[in-house]
Amino acid sequence: MKAITVIPGRPGQVRVSDVDEPRPGPDDLLVEGRLLGICGTDTDIVEGQGYGWPPSGRDRLVIGHESLGTVLQAPPSTTFAEGDLVAGIVRRPDPVPCEPCGHGEWDFCRNGRYTERGIKERDGYGSQRWVVDTHYAVKLDPALGDCGVLLEPASVLAKAWEQTERIFARATWRPRVALVTGAGPIGLLAAMMGVQRGLEVHVFDRADRGPKRRLVTDLGATFHVGDVGGIGIAPDVVIECTGYGPLVFELAEMVAPDSVICLTGISPDTRQVEAGLDEINKQMVLNNTVMFGSVNAARRNFEQGADALAKADLGWLKRMITRRVPMDGFVDGLHKQPDDVKVVVDLQA
Ligand code: BGC
Repeated sequence: MKAITVIPGRPGQVRVSDVDEPRPGPDDLLVEGRLLGICGTDTDIVEGQGYGWPPSGRDRLVIGHESLGTVLQAPPSTTFAEGDLVAGIVRRPDPVPCEPCGHGEWDFCRNGRYTERGIKERDGYGSQRWVVDTHYAVKLDPALGDCGVLLEPASVLAKAWEQTERIFARATWRPRVALVTGAGPIGLLAAMMGVQRGLEVHVFDRADRGPKRRLVTDLGATFHVGDVGGIGIAPDVVIECTGYGPLVFELAEMVAPDSVICLTGISPDTRQVEAGLDEINKQMVLNNTVMFGSVNAARRNFEQGADALAKADLGWLKRMITRRVPMDGFVDGLHKQPDDVKVVVDLQA
């Protein structure tokens, strides 16, 4: 069968390779790969320096962590059956395990020895068939169809919102106004979940192009471009999805008192800017501001993500998937076109 394999950091080495058929163990599902979502992490692995690691003893990694497939074969005594629409969880606990990994919170791994499918020392889901232990497989509402490929990014946002809400447990008031920075797939899913929570949601993006504005306004949220400081709101909660450092610190100066800023994005850039750090520190202290980072997702966050997708408007979710490429079009899929939101690979084409 075919798989998309890469040598991390070597863009010219992306290939559709012939690999052995996967052999399911007693607890594994055998899955027919349907779609694979592409995200910035894949670009970092292929084109960046120092991100992405093949399994030990190999130089090639099967890429892909945003999965969607159909169960071909399930172990007899599980809740999974042939035909189920499933996605696989990305991270596996470290072997020690550290305390969080021992409690199923591999997303909070403390020693960095976790592995990640398609990213860190474990083959990913970019193959025509793959296996996954049932403990790391999540069932999707069959009505979602291809939109189920949005589960992995949705799980990351489900965690971001869950952790944000846990922090708000410190307060006697409830947040009302949310700002999402970045209107890519992560930002749009963050906005969708903010609207599902009944918040007044604002989405900021640097550019007004492609279908983003319509996607935002069709959620019932407000779209802003230009200068974030100029949008005239003092949000109670921010889900930051650009990874653009200078913007992050501008946010600290514009939020309402007692607000929470959740950082979900990273950037490969190494910008150096002059910033009024003492002033930012003062504002954060005097306003009880919380700024925290959030990565990856536990199993419960995948389940929350699956619920959020099932509740969403299917027509809207479908519009998130703007481009499909065949397996040998993976490299083309990595390069963003102006109208792209989520680009997916058709694993059967
Ligand atoms: C994935 C996460 C992963 C992170 C770091 C993200 O793109 O969605 O699951 O933990 O990259 O490798």
